[in-house]
Amino acid sequence: MRAIAVYPGSFDPITKGHTAILASGLVAFEKIIVAVLSNEAKEPLFSVAERMDLIRESVIDMGANPDRIEVDNFDGLLVDYAKSRNARVILRGLRAVADFEYELQMANMNRHLNPEVETVFIMANDAYFYVASNLVKEVARLGGNVSGLVPAPVLPRLLAKFDK
Ligand code: PNS
Repeated sequence: MRAIAVYPGSFDPITKGHTAILASGLVAFEKIIVAVLSNEAKEPLFSVAERMDLIRESVIDMGANPDRIEVDNFDGLLVDYAKSRNARVILRGLRAVADFEYELQMANMNRHLNPEVETVFIMANDAYFYVASNLVKEVARLGGNVSGLVPAPVLPRLLAKFDK
């Protein structure tokens, strides 16, 4: 039986970069728990409930087996959440070199906190190498074209946030 992985993040909102990582992750893991950080201190554009709905709709849109992807939220330490869900793997996507230092730091901190949980990285699809939730929000806010960068169910909800 293959492992359960937790795929954590802010997902504010989920992008096509995220869904590409999810699709690749399903090759390696039997089940992936997409775990939305419920830290409102980050002043997210979408509430946790909205972000979870958008992830669920995007999973349906990508045609993935919904039995293999669960959407949840967490607060507190990620390794504690992973343990509470019997997951031994944290899944993260890696884009450019800029991601590397932050991800290395987090992976090693998480290993220090719980050596039984491994962080596994999947390289971002080159089509979405430049796609990040923050950039997508900025471009949408300024009236730029973000279709193709976010899953279809996200687009109207993102544009509505900026009265576009
Ligand atoms: O998509 P993001 O915002 O880069 O995701 C960051 C996330 C949610 C993975 C990270 O902030 C996190 O794990 N937060 C939980 C708190 C925690 O466990 N911190 C210690 C590990 S560095």
